[in-house]
Amino acid sequence: MNELYAALLRHDPPAWRAALAAIDPQLHPVDRNATHIWFAFFPLELHLALEAAPDPDALVRRLELKGRWRLDGQIGSSHRFLYAHRYWPQVRSAMESADGSGELADVVREVATTAAPAAGVAPGLLYGIAAVLLMTLRQVGPDAFRAEPATVHLSEARRTSTPDEVLRKRARDDSQGLLGFLRGVRKQWTVTFDEDDPAGRFRAIDGQEIATAARVDRRDFHARDPRCVPNEGPIPVRCRSASCGMCWIGVLGGAEKLSPVDDRDERRRMRVFGYLDSPDERPILRLACQARAHGAVSIVIPPWNGVISTLTKR
Ligand code: FES
Repeated sequence: MNELYAALLRHDPPAWRAALAAIDPQLHPVDRNATHIWFAFFPLELHLALEAAPDPDALVRRLELKGRWRLDGQIGSSHRFLYAHRYWPQVRSAMESADGSGELADVVREVATTAAPAAGVAPGLLYGIAAVLLMTLRQVGPDAFRAEPATVHLSEARRTSTPDEVLRKRARDDSQGLLGFLRGVRKQWTVTFDEDDPAGRFRAIDGQEIATAARVDRRDFHARDPRCVPNEGPIPVRCRSASCGMCWIGVLGGAEKLSPVDDRDERRRMRVFGYLDSPDERPILRLACQARAHGAVSIVIPPWNGVISTLTKR
């Protein structure tokens, strides 16, 4: 693992982006969005800046970081939302025989291909989780990695679901009942924020902002994530007007069923926060206080927020 880690240290953020672009066509659809979302949630630029900072606490304050932005402490759980998280032990074990020589994309493919027989799946299903594994090693180092048991954090029901079942579930819209055509704007859609938890969902009225809809869930999310406002649901929010950047989310499925990005507010502010500068009308990273639901969607909530555009500007 030490040799592989030393090889990974030689790749800068553009090299990682190039590797991700190279494997993108081969990523299984069930994990394509999830892989890109994970890399946006844990940018190498942020890790490098904190590592190089003479006073990391001052940098944390300057970047207005809140939450858990470091992968240490969430090595085995940060990627729970990838379908292939279930194959983490096999991919991790395959990593032991990789030396990291060659192109970065080929190292990802090599780890996935080595793990595939033990996992009992085609290598393509493992490209995303293999890339995540290598970036995690790059950021936390071999010692922290070895200290973390290779545990799978999944319910039994989710463990037995197939990629096709997950994709079908994400694509399915809620039935509006026999009289649905009479309901007009009263249509309601399921917003799933944890695919592994049957209770990890809430309902949004057609056209309602996701962060507003989330308020109906009155469970104590503040205890789990102090950024969450007590009694205001699982998505951290403050301004509700695209100003603070707390409510950013990744969209695993159903991005096309959200309202288009408003260039003046949401897109401009996403650039200011530095989360992802995408030209897409409906990108896979959104502000939940701006994105309105017009169908069922599956989202994932990042464990931190901040203003990192000075680091991620390309
Ligand atoms: S709650 Fe502040 S940007 Fe959405």
